[in-house]
Amino acid sequence: MRILVLGSGAREHAIILSLLSEEAGHEIFAAPGNAGIAQDAIIVYLDANDPVAVTAYANTQNIHLVVIGPEAPLVAGVADALRSRGIPVFGPGKAAAQLEGSKAFAKRIMEAAGVPTGRAARAVSRAEVEAAIDEFGAPYVVKADGLAAGKGVIVTTDRDEALAHADTYLPHGAVLVEEFLSGPEVSLFFLSDGDHVLPLSPAQDFKRLRDGDAGPNTGGMGAYSPLPWLLERFGGEDAFVDLVTRDVAEPVIRQLDAEGTPFIGLLYAGLILTDDGVKVIEFNARFGDPETQVVLPRLVDPLSELLLAAASGHLEDLARPAFADAVAVTVVLASEGYPQAPITGRALTGLDAAAAVDGVHLAHAATAGSDDALVATGGRVLNVVGLGTTFAEARERTYRALDAIGLEGGQFRTDIAAGVVEG
Ligand code: AMP
Ligand code: GLY
Repeated sequence: MRILVLGSGAREHAIILSLLSEEAGHEIFAAPGNAGIAQDAIIVYLDANDPVAVTAYANTQNIHLVVIGPEAPLVAGVADALRSRGIPVFGPGKAAAQLEGSKAFAKRIMEAAGVPTGRAARAVSRAEVEAAIDEFGAPYVVKADGLAAGKGVIVTTDRDEALAHADTYLPHGAVLVEEFLSGPEVSLFFLSDGDHVLPLSPAQDFKRLRDGDAGPNTGGMGAYSPLPWLLERFGGEDAFVDLVTRDVAEPVIRQLDAEGTPFIGLLYAGLILTDDGVKVIEFNARFGDPETQVVLPRLVDPLSELLLAAASGHLEDLARPAFADAVAVTVVLASEGYPQAPITGRALTGLDAAAAVDGVHLAHAATAGSDDALVATGGRVLNVVGLGTTFAEARERTYRALDAIGLEGGQFRTDIAAGVVEG
């Protein structure tokens, strides 16, 4: 197939590597991509957020499938434009993508669909915020009701800090105050064709910047998959996945369909496993980053077939995707100053030595330049992904590879998946 992948992160690089690992032998085009993606795909000079430009390109270049990685093109209506021209696209239209973009919309859909989630109150004034945080009590959870790339959320026991956070976002619109949910977090992805869903294997993301879950929230500093501790809690991964499919994914997809906004693409369920059951903290309308980097390398079935079946309404015909027993760990290398003010333009070295470690590959995010002169161009620079038969092995490989990489001021967590290392 001729496949166009939109986006420029490690998530998109992971999608492309997964497509290229298939026997079918695809031709992959990427816009805008990055220095790592440029080694694996043909870079297209195209504004990925421009529905007209993307549709014209896909038409004239005989693209068989468009895969939308990030949220911005979804919100810009790129999927709507492609679909209206009959071009298969994996990614929801603008209306259904609000499931991610508007937390108030997501809460309304969950309520209508009877999906378990924490209590929440929408507030448009300081007085409403104060009333809501005092009702729910500490720890306080305050979220901007819009796109803030993970930065719009604060979880704190400090009332003044919670109010100051609300003050930052109130001038731009509503904020959401939520009940704090306590328990381990799980990211579970579902492919959806608007009608049927197929689950992938769960992963855990590390959202805080520093070891021990300290520091500010980020886009995600690392991840691992599968989650061995699901065995003890649910009797195994399948039982957990069945439960979330039935209680979360299917009702939400049915609700969106009933409202005339079918969701075709990747439904990302961000879950907290509370003592009171599994609850949704957020939905995203796209693959998670960095979770995708640990889920897709374990996928046994051809990714292109799954994405095309979702894009063209045929998921019902496919079996639930299978995953290898191999475990995967990924660690993000971020620039100094990330997430507040990343310092960019610094040289990156040692990538060949890192990629030469057994079981390791790299997924690039904010990189530019060529092999002998690579530079970091943003906050999350790249992902080291290590596979192994045990988490101890996958971690050892991942961190050995990271040690080979040079980036002045580079930051990474040293405790990704440390909690699941076998006895
Ligand atoms: P979000 O952008 O909504 O996923 O929030 C970012 C992170 O904040 C989540 O991954 C959680 O770690 C934390 N968080 C968000 N909402 C809640 C909540 N209601 N209770 C506890 N933690 C939360
Ligand atoms: N890793 C969190 C996200 O993709 O939103």
